[in-house]
Amino acid sequence: MGMSSKSKSDRKTSAWFQRHANDPHVKQAQREGKRSRAAFKLTEILDNEKHGLKIKRNSVVIDLGCAPGSWSVELAKYVGREGLVIGIDLLPLNPINGVTLIQADFDSPAGQKALAEALKGRAVDLVVSDMAPEMSGNKLVDQMRMIGLNEMTLHFARQYLRPDGDLLMKTFMGEGYDGFRRDLGTSFKKIKNIKPAASRKTSSEFFLLGKTFHQ
Ligand SMILES: C[S@@+](CC[C@H](N)C(=O)[O-])C[C@H]1O[C@@H](n2cnc3c(N)ncnc32)[C@H](O)[C@@H]1O
Repeated sequence: MGMSSKSKSDRKTSAWFQRHANDPHVKQAQREGKRSRAAFKLTEILDNEKHGLKIKRNSVVIDLGCAPGSWSVELAKYVGREGLVIGIDLLPLNPINGVTLIQADFDSPAGQKALAEALKGRAVDLVVSDMAPEMSGNKLVDQMRMIGLNEMTLHFARQYLRPDGDLLMKTFMGEGYDGFRRDLGTSFKKIKNIKPAASRKTSSEFFLLGKTFHQ
């Protein structure tokens, strides 16, 4: 079948596969047996001292939108056996050593009930979110969905974080971002924008780090 007879979406898909197959982080993830290349975005942020995001051996961390689980796998190594990592996703996951997994919408009553049971009254040191909305293909719609998810994440963090805790979340640059960042700034002492090398340059995604939570 010639190129010209392929639909626009077929061509887009095969371009995605080409990029994916040649991506050095995909190859590294396969070599190192990671569940996803997304692992490197997190470890890059955690290992870069200039970001000042330190996870202690006994930290309690909630990983929102954790499937297929590569962030949770890494987080469990940082917190050790005294710590607690709770991963939540709409999708089912294969078990991860040292991680409590919840299959639910993090914003639903069922998700929050399961979370309260898993926390057993422990205070939360860090909330991380690599969540993305389901993509419609319409840039503005996807951007508004992302900001909506960011607002839900901030609301969640305000409920669960201990004073001085931290929040790391994915967002997209675009409509609604400035207002959201201002809102974030009312609850954290310091905000940083981080674009890890493992995040594709062509993607508008980057991470917002809110340091030192206050009411
Ligand atoms: C990019 S993936 C996360 C990848 C993950 N950090 C990793 O390293 O394996 C985003 C996830 O967010 C989840 N998600 C989106 N909205 C959610 C919600 N309201 N509640 C729970 N999970 C959600 C999706 O199901 C998807 O699995």
